[in-house]
Amino acid sequence: MCGIAGYIGPREAVTVVFDQITRLEYRGYDSAGVAFGTERGIAVLKKAGKLNNLGQLIENEKPAAHIAMAHSRWATHGGPTDENAHPHYDQSGRIAVIHNGIIENYYELGEALKSKGHEFRSQTDTEVAAHVIGEEYAESGQFVEAVRRAVRRLRGAFAMVVMCIDEPDKIVTVRNASPLVLGIGEGENFLASDIPALLPYTREVVIMDEGDLAVLTRNEIYLEDAEGKPKLPKKIHIDWDIEAAEKGGHEHFMIKEITEQPQSIRQCLAGRLLKDETVALPETFSINDWKRFDRVIILACGTAYHAGLLGKYVFESLLRMPVEVLYASEFRYNNPIVRANDLVIVISQSGETADTLAALRVAKEGGAKTLGIVNVVGSNIARECDAVLYTQAGPEISVASTKAYTAQAALLTLIALHMAQHRAADKEKYQRLIAELERLPDHIEACLKNNEAIVRIAEHIKDTPLIFFLGRGADAAVAMEGALKMKEIAYIPTQESPAGEMKHGPLALVTDGVVAVFGVTNPPTREKVISNIKEIKARGGTVVTVVLESDTVTPAESDYVIRIPHIDSHAIAAITSVVPLQLLAYHVARLRGCEIDQPRNLAKSVTVE
Ligand code: AGP
Repeated sequence: MCGIAGYIGPREAVTVVFDQITRLEYRGYDSAGVAFGTERGIAVLKKAGKLNNLGQLIENEKPAAHIAMAHSRWATHGGPTDENAHPHYDQSGRIAVIHNGIIENYYELGEALKSKGHEFRSQTDTEVAAHVIGEEYAESGQFVEAVRRAVRRLRGAFAMVVMCIDEPDKIVTVRNASPLVLGIGEGENFLASDIPALLPYTREVVIMDEGDLAVLTRNEIYLEDAEGKPKLPKKIHIDWDIEAAEKGGHEHFMIKEITEQPQSIRQCLAGRLLKDETVALPETFSINDWKRFDRVIILACGTAYHAGLLGKYVFESLLRMPVEVLYASEFRYNNPIVRANDLVIVISQSGETADTLAALRVAKEGGAKTLGIVNVVGSNIARECDAVLYTQAGPEISVASTKAYTAQAALLTLIALHMAQHRAADKEKYQRLIAELERLPDHIEACLKNNEAIVRIAEHIKDTPLIFFLGRGADAAVAMEGALKMKEIAYIPTQESPAGEMKHGPLALVTDGVVAVFGVTNPPTREKVISNIKEIKARGGTVVTVVLESDTVTPAESDYVIRIPHIDSHAIAAITSVVPLQLLAYHVARLRGCEIDQPRNLAKSVTVE
């Protein structure tokens, strides 16, 4: 996620804002820039790459300013280049803008502006937003009003900071679904995308609400709500230390990223799942290609592989299209069969996993079209695929992948829905799937409220010698992921499989004290799963079930129950049910005193085979 910083006051402003975005480095970025006020107007310095590249430019320029803003960019639209780095000017050069998030309607706005003679230097949605503000400013002559009017024309999740040559004593900022915090000083004021960037200067903070617009001057912070009604800034005192602040006040990055999932799913769907219940994936293949594919091969490792298993379930149930999900580490050694009409989907959070990159190259040699589902923009896998869809989940710091998994599953669902728009598909399933996908962030939000109940379950099972993860249908795919989480951060041995497989061998492992975690989110198979639950309990096992809140049968058979909202689509219910499993693994690991964000023997990006 990008870093945003702003300052107005007696200090050397560029030094302050550069220090601020340095404190946001942990959020990940690939370019950075500053804008600052001079007697000649607003100057901009910006550079791709690491912050010290920008630092060198600042060193050479030696700016002396008392108003500035800075941005570290996590590329979403347009690669990590100097031109695409923020800030961006409007057409007149009188307005400069930095922004976080995604502007969904940037394309149509940009085309309309081009038809009026606007010229763009970058491929970013941010520059389009700057031109929209500049157009409003040219018409109204009022800086703050121009920002208000422009924001009403923008659609998407964004936080924006704007400076204007003609009003060098103020910074205007807007929050629309992407975090923004204000820092209150004595004769100076600050803003940032995250609290750590404020703490060295002030602990008096205002968290902007959705839709708020703020005007910062040296001695005042003016705030108004989405309707333009003035509101009193609600000041809070932050007593976190800096390290805690980088985790948003959470103890570990993993729990921070688990709780970010409603936001990361919203960002993943933004601009793709449209209000008219259609799916737009413009940056991929032609309609003819989408119609031509007659098989899907999914290549990935670890958690990304488990997301692929969920994708298989969605593609096969919605499109009746054959899907093979293959371990990337095996693919190239198995003399694979790849055909010209295959769509090969390559899933990778880091975009650098050596096994997955090698498998991608073999698939391309086989003549198939390749589509990347990647989180890190501009990574090797993203660059080598024929087309790429970014998960927009923001940087995932913890080695244990959580928000990337749910974003990958959501994106696979979007791809299946997109294909369904161009070929025969089950209409009723399509409607149910799209409606529940839209509600996925809310479903996940509801699951996060179970945290305390899950802590209590974790306290009871944390010393278990072996944990089974079981389910049927898409729940079996999620069981694989729940098991991996428990293994990799709590170091507890697990046995994961479709629930029906127990009687073919694994049941021999069930003795007193063994725990079995069942996902039960599909009513048609519920009776069968309950038989499996009874098999475990009859042999002394303890059973934890993750059930739909509408399920009144399974809880009676369970020792512990975790409820998720009732969800009509089994695929979306299964994706949602991973959140309790992530929380369960996290709390068991925490209670066992494990090193959660950096588990032993593992790395965040496995760039060796
Ligand atoms: C998952 O929690 C692990 N960190 C690991 O299995 C990971 O998913 C795997 O190494 C693939 O990484 P990638 O998504 O970056 O390619």
